[in-house]
Amino acid sequence: MPLIAHAREHRLWVLTAADSSYVLRVGDDDLLYSLHWGRALTVEQAVSLLEYPPARSRSCEVPSDGVLDLSPAGQARYGHAGLQVRFADGARDLDLRYTRHRLTDDELVLSFEDSFFPLTVEAIYRVRAGSPAIERHLTVRHTGSETPIEVVRADSATWVLPELPDYRLSHAYGQWNGEGRLQRAPLAHGETALGSRRGVTSHHANPWAMIDDGTASEDQGAVYGTALAWSGNWQILAQRMPSDRVSLSLGSGHGAESRLLEPGEELSTPVSVGMYTEGGFGGASRAWHEYVRAHVLKHPLELRPVLYNSWEATGFEVSLNAQMALADRAAQIGVELFVMDDGWFGRRVDDTAGLGDWAPNPERFPDGLRPLIKHVHGLGMKFGLWVEPEMANPDSDLYRAHPDWIIHRPHRHRTRIRGQHVLNLARPAVAAWVHATIDRLLRDNEIDFLKWDMNRPLTEVGPLDERADDRLWSAYVENLYTILDRLRADHRALRIENCSSGGGRVDLGMLVRTDQVWPSDNTDAVDRLEIQHGYTQVYPAQTMGAWITASPNPWTGRESPLDQRFHVAAAGVLGVGLDLAACDEAELSRLGTLIARYKVLRPLIQHGTQYRLGTPGRDALTAVQYVASDESEIVVLAFLRSRRFGRADPALPLRALDPRARYREADSGRVHHGAVLLARGLPLDLPTGDQASTMIHLRRLGPDEEEQFAPIGVNPSP
Ligand code: DGJ
Repeated sequence: MPLIAHAREHRLWVLTAADSSYVLRVGDDDLLYSLHWGRALTVEQAVSLLEYPPARSRSCEVPSDGVLDLSPAGQARYGHAGLQVRFADGARDLDLRYTRHRLTDDELVLSFEDSFFPLTVEAIYRVRAGSPAIERHLTVRHTGSETPIEVVRADSATWVLPELPDYRLSHAYGQWNGEGRLQRAPLAHGETALGSRRGVTSHHANPWAMIDDGTASEDQGAVYGTALAWSGNWQILAQRMPSDRVSLSLGSGHGAESRLLEPGEELSTPVSVGMYTEGGFGGASRAWHEYVRAHVLKHPLELRPVLYNSWEATGFEVSLNAQMALADRAAQIGVELFVMDDGWFGRRVDDTAGLGDWAPNPERFPDGLRPLIKHVHGLGMKFGLWVEPEMANPDSDLYRAHPDWIIHRPHRHRTRIRGQHVLNLARPAVAAWVHATIDRLLRDNEIDFLKWDMNRPLTEVGPLDERADDRLWSAYVENLYTILDRLRADHRALRIENCSSGGGRVDLGMLVRTDQVWPSDNTDAVDRLEIQHGYTQVYPAQTMGAWITASPNPWTGRESPLDQRFHVAAAGVLGVGLDLAACDEAELSRLGTLIARYKVLRPLIQHGTQYRLGTPGRDALTAVQYVASDESEIVVLAFLRSRRFGRADPALPLRALDPRARYREADSGRVHHGAVLLARGLPLDLPTGDQASTMIHLRRLGPDEEEQFAPIGVNPSP
């Protein structure tokens, strides 16, 4: 079946993405309707949808309200309009007429123009072969030669759901130190807005949303997933009409964030991705993970190294000797990438000074960074460096030289957060300086990895130039993207970790430009399970940084066994944030053993298929299971929060095994029937005490090994 098919006489298109279809039709009224989103249909089947009776038009109800793929403001539609403009004479009604389509193997462009005003709109769809993902964005162009047109809102996509018996919304909410927590609740009638007004994606909500009919579980049921690839202000508007039709409209900007389109100017929105999947929320997540691997990440096949990060060990107390001593110990336990965090530059001895002055602190690093880098490389590790290039402290040479470079307004207070201001990256000269400064740092030093941090939201945002519009918000993000893209193009071996006070800027837009994420500053093993559960709803384990840190945890004061801290961190890209100088030989030796074990299983964890078993925060026993692509190996990380009433430890039913095969535990040598592991579960040999955890590696028996055993079952298959 072609990815995109066209029934010309009906002005209908069928986009087929893996096992799903998305059907579009331009109606007789020239509006673009979403006719179907769900199981795959042929063109002939899709055309038969036109025989269904249309919704009735009544004086107070308009059939197109809430069911348009491209929903322009105007006429008698009062629901959310994904496209809103204001023309020079004040008119706000759009009257779009379909003009033509362009079709390639995987891309469809539907073009519209206003019946009177000089405005054209293109709705652009891309289907990715083998994935249920459909990408959609919009371009809006001023084709005239006179006064500007104000674009008040241009959503990237409005995904219209089919009629379901009920609707439930899943999304992630959070805060600093508690990002990405999953919320799943019935969708209320009216409008539910998720989003950020902070200029960054935010800790508080993440730009994805999923809808099911209220009956999907982790393992079964249809799920409609959507996400926005954008790292600034954003909004997802979930609209449940009184008619019970539901749509999800995703776009940059929170509410109205208007742009003045000059004659000849074109606005292109970020991409929104939508996917229909079956197989429950677990199935949906696996499809998102595959999509991210295949179409978002630049280096999806590379194994992410085990890193050490000095932040929790030293804070701002950074010195050459102490870092070298930490590096010695990091190398001893098997770390592959040593990252020096904040405190190495300018007069950065605390968080009040130095941001903007990206030269090594001469007292701490009298000969620059090279001696440390040489030492780290000499130990066989890569070298990583923390930077926060989008910022300036008032106490910095940069700010003293360019006080006007920060985002600010005349006659307004310059709000400081964490003692710092945001550089106005929307201004080309400032963006050029940021790029040149980091580029020089990379050219002057053999830096393999940057931890790119961004520790405060934007304030006092106003017009960028003489045009009184809100383009600063989006220009900031676009210029940030350009800087990252250029650095990556010019420094091909460089890898980047995306951090924003933990997970303040986690989204598909940043994942295109970075290799991994620091999802939260909260390194408490118990809290982290919930954060990771939320993170992996959309983003794969190979992007999810996780460190073993101290017990009691510096943030929560909770004590956790070392093995449990390891098991939690091993669920993603393993890192160590402990003060290694304070560890005794026994701890170092145990860390070395655990890291070596992670390295053996890392390909499975980072590149395998992930199954979440249970919900942290709700279930006492939870686990994450990773299955190799050839299904021959499995890793299970299991966590038992606490035991009650002296009950025996529960067994853990696994997923995605061959019921006819047998599996051997690598450590104990115990052999299990696949059917029993699926039905009854894996017996867990957990340590005593609360917060017990384990890591189990299973290997499917090969035909030679199988011969040692009696045939399985009464009617073994041939
Ligand atoms: C916030 C980050 O999330 C931390 O990991 C650390 O890098 C600090 N910034 C340093 O200031």
